[in-house]
Amino acid sequence: MRQKLPDFPWDALAPYGAIARTHPEGAIDLSVGTPVDPTPEFIQSAFRDASNSPGYPVTIGTPELRDAITAWAKKTLGATGDFGVLPLIGSKEFVAWLPTLIEAHSVLYPDVAYPTYLVGALLAEAEATAVNLDASQWPAADMAWVNTPSNPTGRVHSEAEFRSAIAWSRKNKSVLVSDECYLEFGDSVQPTSILQYTDGDNSNILGVYSLSKRSSMAGYRGAYLVGDPVLIAKILEVRKHAGMMVPLPVQKAMVAALSEQKHVAEQRARYNARRATLAPALIAAGFTIDNSEAGLYIWATRNENCWDSVSWLADLGIIATPGVFYGELGSRHIRIAMTATDVQIHDAAGRIHAKVGA
Ligand SMILES: Cc1ncc(COP(=O)(O)O)c(C=O)c1O
Repeated sequence: MRQKLPDFPWDALAPYGAIARTHPEGAIDLSVGTPVDPTPEFIQSAFRDASNSPGYPVTIGTPELRDAITAWAKKTLGATGDFGVLPLIGSKEFVAWLPTLIEAHSVLYPDVAYPTYLVGALLAEAEATAVNLDASQWPAADMAWVNTPSNPTGRVHSEAEFRSAIAWSRKNKSVLVSDECYLEFGDSVQPTSILQYTDGDNSNILGVYSLSKRSSMAGYRGAYLVGDPVLIAKILEVRKHAGMMVPLPVQKAMVAALSEQKHVAEQRARYNARRATLAPALIAAGFTIDNSEAGLYIWATRNENCWDSVSWLADLGIIATPGVFYGELGSRHIRIAMTATDVQIHDAAGRIHAKVGA
């Protein structure tokens, strides 16, 4: 019998949301991290133009989409050697189902992490082990996840860390997946991809990418894999049987999104400017900001129980996520998402400065 899945963590945050919503100027929700900036018009237009879609889409993706992902992977990731690509219905489904699809019996995942890595291991009835960043100490397992830039910490993997994880994969003949869905959102550090460090041998290595944040397309559910062509063929086979195909209008919108980089630079600048507005306010309020060098979040601590920090912000009408959602090691941190409008972020910073008189 499968182990019980964890309680859906967001339910525990609801009472703090209710407090925040009583603020006279309204609540500012910096918790969930759902994009609010509009999907660029040219992507919406590609989607609309493909809305006549009577036939089934193919699981492997249209040739145009496969070409667009391949070109993007060479240019943006620096992928070399033989690699395959595969569209996904958002990356969350992949994270949740990969251990099942490849029949993994043991899964390693980061000790401060996006909760779905653990959920995927539980769905597969696999043994799940939380590990730190030092892959030279990892135990043997069928597969391991790394996540860079990290949700929730915004930490970026170094070349040495990637190479150590790749060495673990080669030694154990184990699958290594790097979740790089925030790859194009560097701030003080420029993230790189695992596929840059495989020296052209991508066996057992996968990178997973998402357009949800990159192109503000979370509602479309468009993501993709790049990496070991043999492993991708195996994953494709199961996904074909299971009907896990990306709708054709979404595939067309993905081609448009992947063929343009200007909107990504604009979105990156938006998130980084919001971080630059909020960070000094949090520091003035006694928080220390850790990592947060890329991605979508600020990872901060006031060296108190995370729920106390969440409560303090809720009284100001600001909803943040308790770090314990990402593992016990996060229990003294909060995660703050840059997914609110510029005006809301400015107001949130203003409320904090006003409260602490700085
Ligand atoms: C690290 C990480 N991986 C995957 C996902 C899933 O994103 P999506 O399903 O929208 O592609 C998220 C979403 O927040 C995430 O933070």
